[in-house]
Amino acid sequence: MARILTGIQSSGVPHLGNVLGAIIPAIKMSKNTENESLFFIADLHSLTTIKNAKLIKQNTYATAAAWLSFGFDTDKNIFYRQSDIPEVTELMWILNCFTPYPMLANAHSFKDKSSNLSDVNSGLFTYPVLMAADILLYDANVVPVGKDQLQHIEMTRDIAGSFNHLMGDTLIIPESKTSENVMIIPGVDGRKMSKSYDNTINIFAEEKNLKKQIMKIVTDSLGLEDPKDPNTCNVFNIYKLIASDDEIEKMKTNYMGGGFGYGHAKNTLLELILKKFSSERKIYFELMKDTKKIEFKLKEGSEKAKKIASSVLQRVKSKLGI
Ligand code: TRP
Repeated sequence: MARILTGIQSSGVPHLGNVLGAIIPAIKMSKNTENESLFFIADLHSLTTIKNAKLIKQNTYATAAAWLSFGFDTDKNIFYRQSDIPEVTELMWILNCFTPYPMLANAHSFKDKSSNLSDVNSGLFTYPVLMAADILLYDANVVPVGKDQLQHIEMTRDIAGSFNHLMGDTLIIPESKTSENVMIIPGVDGRKMSKSYDNTINIFAEEKNLKKQIMKIVTDSLGLEDPKDPNTCNVFNIYKLIASDDEIEKMKTNYMGGGFGYGHAKNTLLELILKKFSSERKIYFELMKDTKKIEFKLKEGSEKAKKIASSVLQRVKSKLGI
C-alpha cells in the first residue's frame, strides 16, 4: 500500500483552477483502495504571508469545505490541519540541522524574492524544511504536487538522505508525482488562472459575484451577428473543460453559426457552473454556515495523523539521543 500525502495551500477560497487541477484529480486518486491518502491544510506555511487570525481561520474553513464538498472520504483517508500536529515543527527543527544553508539559498521560491531581502522573513527561507517535515513525519511514499513544487520535493529527498546517511536508515525517501497531462486552466484574461493574476472564477462564490467574474472574461469585439471561432475564445476554452461532449458540440455550432454573442456564451457558462457544481456549492455553503462541522472533521483527522506523527518523531529522536 502506498501512502500518498499532499499539502493544500490555504491562501483563499479554492477557485475553478484549483478545483479542476488539484481537488478533483487528488480525490480521484484517493479512491484507489491500494492507497491511503493524507491531505492537510498547510496553515503554518500560510503564516509566511498572512498575519491575520480571522483570515487564516476563514481560509482554512473555506479550503476544507471545498475539499469536503467534492466528497473527499475522511473515513478511508486522513484529512487534517497542519498546525494541529505540533510534532511537525519539532521535526522541522531537527531537519534544519541536517539542511545545508546553500540548499535553501538556492530554492526558487526564495531566490524569486531575494532581490528585496528586507521583505523576506526566515519562515519564507526555511519554508522547504517545513515541507520536508510535513512529508517525512508521515512516512509518505508519494507526494503529488504541481511542477512549481518539484524542487521542494527534491530537497526533501536530499534532507532525508542526509539524515539517513549520518544517523542510519530512519526516514522514508518519498517520490514526487506530477500529472502528465497537466491541465492549464485559463483565467478570465486568458492567462493561467491564478490568484496572483486576479483572474479567477470562484465556483463557490454567491451567484451574483460568480456572474460578475464570468462577465469579466475577456473576448474580442466581434458583434452579435458575426460567426465566431470558439477555439480562440476564453469563454469557450473555460466552458469546454467542464461541459459534456454534447454541450461542447452545441456551443461550437452556436459560435460558428453567428447570431450568438459573447453575452450568450457567458450566460451559458454561468448556468453550466451553477448546474454542474450545484451539490458541491450546497454542501460548501452549509459547512461555511456551521464551521463546527468542519472543526469536527479536522479534529477526527488530526487524531489519526497524530498517531503516525508521534511514532515517526520518536523514531527520529531515538537516533539522536533526545
Ligand atoms: N508548498 C505547497 C504548495 O504551495 C503546499 C505544501 C505544504 C505541500 N506542505 C506540503 C505540498 C507537503 C506537498 C507536501 O502547493
